[in-house]
Amino acid sequence: MSALPNDYDSDPERFLSSGKYPHDDVHPYVAARLARARARRVLDVGGGNGRLARLLPGLSMSCLLIDLSPAMLALAPRPVVRADGSRLPVADASVDAVAALYTLYHYADPRVPIREARRVLRPGGLLAACAPNRDSNPELAPVLPHWGARSTFDGEDAAAIVTSVFSARGDQVEVERWDGHLNTLSTAAHAAGFLRIYGMSDAEASAAASTLDLPLTMTMRGCIIYATKAP
Ligand SMILES: C[S@@+](CC[C@H](N)C(=O)[O-])C[C@H]1O[C@@H](n2cnc3c(N)ncnc32)[C@H](O)[C@@H]1O
Repeated sequence: MSALPNDYDSDPERFLSSGKYPHDDVHPYVAARLARARARRVLDVGGGNGRLARLLPGLSMSCLLIDLSPAMLALAPRPVVRADGSRLPVADASVDAVAALYTLYHYADPRVPIREARRVLRPGGLLAACAPNRDSNPELAPVLPHWGARSTFDGEDAAAIVTSVFSARGDQVEVERWDGHLNTLSTAAHAAGFLRIYGMSDAEASAAASTLDLPLTMTMRGCIIYATKAP
């Protein structure tokens, strides 16, 4: 099991390519959940180019986006701070909510940034984290040599990992899973863009996409974890 590599500065298009063909994803659901929790001050850790952060001001929330990658920070809505999620430059108990979406698999030990998130949350504050499952998109297994490989924060293990940190009396952890036909790759360009997310180069992704029987509907699986710090 290893942490997924951080290539957001060396190959930003690898991550950004999937955004050219948007599909149903967690960001609006997480934003709505933070609003229902009456969050006002939100920290988006590993916030990337701001897919969540952009939604929050319209729901009366302010957001500070934290990321390690200058390339992502350049594309993100302000305010931003370049920092490591393992050492947040934020005071104890000072925010209402922390988001860590599709980012905890970049840490060798994701419990470290989860502990940091819990530290900066006020009592009663909410952490939202998410990850795809190892068995997500089985339709792509034939073209992905490492399909099913374990990372440090897969959807299958995410709830147990978060619960190991949010374990004080009064802490609560809920899991929302997704498992369904949530995305259809319609063209070779669309498929190649999507395959890039799995770490393929442009050339590899185009070659792999040309072998797929398109359109291809994928079974996407993963989960969002909501953890509440004891009030
Ligand atoms: C897959 S992107 C997800 C971005 C965003 N959360 C989203 O849902 O669109 C992962 C992000 O985590 C950031 N990241 C990785 N390791 C980090 C760390 N140790 N501290 C802060 N950010 C980190 C990367 O730079 C990247 O922007």
